[in-house]
Amino acid sequence: MSDPHDIADPSRAEAGAGRIAWAERDMPVLRGIRARFERERPLAGIRVGACLHVTAETAALMRTLAAGGADIALCASNPLSTQDDVAAALAAEGVGVFARQGEDDDTYYRHLMRVADHRPQLAIDDGADLIGVLHAARRELLDGVIAGMEETTTGVIRLRAMEADAVLGFPVIAVNEAQTKHLFDNRYGTGQSVVDGIVRATNVLLAGRTFVVAGYGWCGRGLAERARGMGASVVVLEVDPLRALQAAMDGFRVMTAEAAAPIGDIFCTATGDKDVLRGEHFDRMKDGALIANAGHFNVEIDLPALRERAVATTRPRADVEELELADGRRLALLAEGRLVNLVAADGHPASVMDMSFANQALSAEYAVRGAEGLENRVYVVPPAIDEEVARLKLEAMGIAIDRLTAEQERYLRSWSEGT
Ligand code: NAI
Repeated sequence: MSDPHDIADPSRAEAGAGRIAWAERDMPVLRGIRARFERERPLAGIRVGACLHVTAETAALMRTLAAGGADIALCASNPLSTQDDVAAALAAEGVGVFARQGEDDDTYYRHLMRVADHRPQLAIDDGADLIGVLHAARRELLDGVIAGMEETTTGVIRLRAMEADAVLGFPVIAVNEAQTKHLFDNRYGTGQSVVDGIVRATNVLLAGRTFVVAGYGWCGRGLAERARGMGASVVVLEVDPLRALQAAMDGFRVMTAEAAAPIGDIFCTATGDKDVLRGEHFDRMKDGALIANAGHFNVEIDLPALRERAVATTRPRADVEELELADGRRLALLAEGRLVNLVAADGHPASVMDMSFANQALSAEYAVRGAEGLENRVYVVPPAIDEEVARLKLEAMGIAIDRLTAEQERYLRSWSEGT
């Protein structure tokens, strides 16, 4: 039998276990679900293949699924986001882990194939790479998959495109679409951790700087709010008129990328789109401008166009690549254009991943229990799960809210009262 793991350093398991324990303190909802899963074992004997950022918070989800009886193989959803100590800790606990921080593209795909070899009945994905590999290279396994679960916006877009082309081989639950996921994780989690990543990568002062956010979706608006909170003057780029208008009325300057290029000190993309910052923009940027990405794939910044303009490249800090252009200007690319919050910082704080991963765990249970009723489509998370996660999180935060009286319920349902 081949080695059940491919990790960087098994001796770091203890450090990883400490890091996981620290994260779990801030994940009360998931802890509660785990306690129930231990009793009820809703995933007993189910093979789970997961492609997620291998972080302490993901480890808490893996432990929850394992408590429910799942047999798990995990690989990374990004070659640079793996926390090697966490990978070691999970491997020591019996999870099959195929992830090394900094793995090259070949290793990344080899690891995806190792998870496919686990013949997953549940495929938990972040960016649809695992589900993509199952459809492209391991079609014989599709019938054995009860359901997939997708964590992020970009993955959901891809899976909906597969559904529209009638090529989706099993049902998928779009965990990202749960309100208790994207309204909190994408907004507050990305907002805070992207600022954290940029600051850790560079130690730049945000106060007084012009910070350009591309995309005013849930990630972009969180980032814009947090950058403003740190004293930056924030500019928003959008292509959707409604969102551009929201940004303007939220008090941000809204303009084209061409207009923003010469005034920005820090640029960060969060669109899920490609080539958002490209040659014509790099040509106009100031000396010293910092360029980062928070979107799922490293395609938002046109990296070939940026690198082909460089006459010299240095690495003044671990996550900073400084490119000197022919005219003497220097542009600094952070985290190789990959998710800056996961590469240069720890990713989202545990408290917000508590909600995202509670949705994952409850969706896994829902898929297994309701398997026969699901078709090969992309489903939203059932509202009952969303409400349950919100209720449990409020409870854990010690926040009580009012309940409608019977009279109020009647009033809100009626159309005749109050005239
Ligand atoms: P969203 O769909 O809510 O927002 C994206 C926004 O970008 C839209 O308003 C769209 O109009 C705009 N946009 C598209 N092309 C553009 C362009 N060329 N120029 C300017 N704006 C453009 O998506 P959401 O949830 O904000 O996610 C954005 C990306 O971040 C996705 O790739 C998602 O997977 C990823 N993500 C990253 C996280 C992280 O930890 N860094 C966490 C959650 C999501």
